[in-house]
Amino acid sequence: MIEMRTIEESKVETVHIVRPNHLNGAGRLFGGILMQWMDEVAGIVGSRHTRCNCTTASVDNLRFIRGAYQKELVVIIGKVTYVGTTSLEVRVDSYVEDKDGMRRPINRAYFTMVALDENDTPCLVPRLDIKSEEEKAEWEGAKKRRAMREKRKTEGF
Ligand SMILES: CC(C)(COP(=O)(O)OP(=O)(O)OC[C@H]1O[C@@H](n2cnc3c(N)ncnc32)[C@H](O)[C@@H]1OP(=O)(O)O)[C@@H](O)C(=O)NCCC(=O)NCCS
Repeated sequence: MIEMRTIEESKVETVHIVRPNHLNGAGRLFGGILMQWMDEVAGIVGSRHTRCNCTTASVDNLRFIRGAYQKELVVIIGKVTYVGTTSLEVRVDSYVEDKDGMRRPINRAYFTMVALDENDTPCLVPRLDIKSEEEKAEWEGAKKRRAMREKRKTEGF
C-alpha cells in the first residue's frame, strides 16, 4: 500500500530567544544562525513525513523582511507543500512574536529535502494527503518552483 500523510502530521513549530551569542556586529540576529534554525526545522519536517533521514538539496526564495534583536522571540514554522518521488518541498516561515502574541514575519524560504535510505541513497517518499484549497494552492506553487529549479539546473543560471 502506498503511504500517505497529511501536512499537519509533520508540521513543526519551534521558538528561540535571541541571545547575545546569536547577534552579528550590527546587534541584529545573525542571518546564518536563523538559516541554521530554519534548516533544522525543514529537516525535522522531512523526517516526520518520510520517517527517514533527509538531506537539504536546495533552498529557494530566501528573503529577509525584517531583523530580530536581543531578547526577542523567534518562531519558526515548517510544513510540507509538495512531494516528488524522493524529494519533498518544505515551506519555512519565521516570525518575531510580540508580548501580545502578534507575529511579524522575518522571512520565508522553500527547502527541497531528499529522503535517504540506510545506504544514503534517495528513497521513495510518502504521498501528501491534501485537505484544503490553501494546501492545493501551495502544491500548485511548488510545482512552478520545481519547474524553475529544473530549468536552472539544465540551463545553469
Ligand atoms: C541531494 C542529493 C542526495 C541528490 O542526489 P542525486 O544523485 O542528484 O539524486 P537524484 O538525481 O536521484 O535526485 C533525487 C531527488 O533530488 C532532487 N534534487 C537533486 N538535486 C536537487 C537540487 N539541486 N535542487 C532541488 N532538488 C534536487 C531531484 O529532483 C530528485 O527529486 P524527485 O525524486 O522528487 O524527482 C545529493 O546531491 C547530495 O547528497 N547533496 C548534498 C546534500 C547535503 O549534504 N546537504 C547538506 C548541506 S551540506
